[in-house]
Amino acid sequence: MDSDPRFKPHEVLAPHYSAPEDKQPFLRRVFDESAPHYERIASWGFFGTGNWYRRWALQRAGLKPGMAVVDVAAGTGITARAAAAIVGAPGLITCIEPSLGMLRESERQLPEAQHLQAGADALPLPDAGCDFLSMGFALRHVENLETAFREFRRVLKPGGRLLIMDITKPDGRVANAVVKFYFRDFMPRFTRLITGSREATYLMEYYWETLDHMVDPTRVLEALAAAGLDEPRRHVEAGIFSEYTARRP
Ligand SMILES: C[S@@+](CC[C@H](N)C(=O)[O-])C[C@H]1O[C@@H](n2cnc3c(N)ncnc32)[C@H](O)[C@@H]1O
Repeated sequence: MDSDPRFKPHEVLAPHYSAPEDKQPFLRRVFDESAPHYERIASWGFFGTGNWYRRWALQRAGLKPGMAVVDVAAGTGITARAAAAIVGAPGLITCIEPSLGMLRESERQLPEAQHLQAGADALPLPDAGCDFLSMGFALRHVENLETAFREFRRVLKPGGRLLIMDITKPDGRVANAVVKFYFRDFMPRFTRLITGSREATYLMEYYWETLDHMVDPTRVLEALAAAGLDEPRRHVEAGIFSEYTARRP
């Protein structure tokens, strides 16, 4: 099936990369380079929401002990570790992540989980194998929202649920100005200060660009429905933490 161009998460972001086919290799490179610093950025930046927010969101989305979980875009495994604490056994978690640098960090932190190198748009997993699918803070990186969501639907068991966490721009001029200052001006400088890494600083500069250019949340909900998922919903915490949930029929 051809992917619907309406469901691209954002347009090509030059000068970071200049052709659509360059996006995934570009992302793999920047995440590989930033992998050693990612945990520190996630726990100090992002308003200090590390593990606890992910765990809380997963619980509210219906994750329960004993469920088999696929965590897409696992990164260094922060969401996967929060999920493991809820399900009660790290062996129930499968981490999917395209950057080898990030994947190795996650393997080190959660060795009992299964780790597979892949992107969200083509999951190397069987049909209907998991009870719950999570994706933390990576929605803008997929190639096409509908294509990825069709994959999410395929790997979920009937009745299985998903949670996609993402940062979105808030409503209101003042709140928007605060978020712009935080992500565009403060976070890259702060990242430089705590990591000393030019690559990690660059990742945060790019992060702001994606936040600024990401499609509207209503488009994400449309893509969930277009992929054949039931009950697409968005819940927002603190004006910027968007939680998209849906269920495989
Ligand atoms: C900001 S990190 C989020 C990591 C983790 N989920 C968390 O909650 O902290 C984004 C991750 O998305 C991954 N990524 C990039 N392109 C992707 C794609 N097409 N499919 C899945 N993951 C992707 C990156 O390699 C990176 O590890």
